[in-house]
Amino acid sequence: MSTDKAKIAVLVSGGGTNLQALIDGQKSGIIASGDISLVISNNPDAYALERAKAAGIATAVVNKKDFATSFDFEEAIKKLLNERAIDIIVLAGFMCILGENFTKAYPRRIINVHPSLIPSFCGKGFYGLRVHEAALAYGVKVTGATVHFVNEIPDGGEIIMQRAVEIEDGDTPEILQRRVMEQAEWKILPLSVEKICGEIVRSKNAK
Ligand code: GAR
Repeated sequence: MSTDKAKIAVLVSGGGTNLQALIDGQKSGIIASGDISLVISNNPDAYALERAKAAGIATAVVNKKDFATSFDFEEAIKKLLNERAIDIIVLAGFMCILGENFTKAYPRRIINVHPSLIPSFCGKGFYGLRVHEAALAYGVKVTGATVHFVNEIPDGGEIIMQRAVEIEDGDTPEILQRRVMEQAEWKILPLSVEKICGEIVRSKNAK
């Protein structure tokens, strides 16, 4: 049987503007080889869940606080992914670091968007606004965003796409965060998802 779309799960924690970019990308046809089938949030109050519901996408909350160990938390996420036969997992503002038990289960099947040009301002402790604070404190003139595969090293997996963004006089972390999202993240995340979904569909159909 030929497969025409890869099943996508998106993991979120907050506002979900990157999730929105994926939903919009699916509507506009930028994402033609994948279907967003499930959105999982570790945060029950994430606005991203509202965005998913508005788009008619199934949602689930897996709150780390409800589990005794990180292992149990990750197993609960795995169970949901496996039940729905998910092909690709997109971390879109997901603020939990996933352990080796999780990442090794999905080699080259988990992708993350990070708001800097890796290897700058990345790894443990660099997330959200902190990344932009660090870029401004260092005084770099160019920053950007990176989409990469997720492995056992935080922000250390193979790079899929990057886009540069200029820093401007008077930037605050908030202004810079918004520019990096608009000019880089919301563009390269849907493009990267389509690239990987296309590869998954082609490899399934070749079997
Ligand atoms: C985005 O800027 C994303 O790159 C970043 O958090 C923000 C989430 O916004 N992710 C990380 O820092 C991961 N290390 P969103 O919820 O509106 O997509």
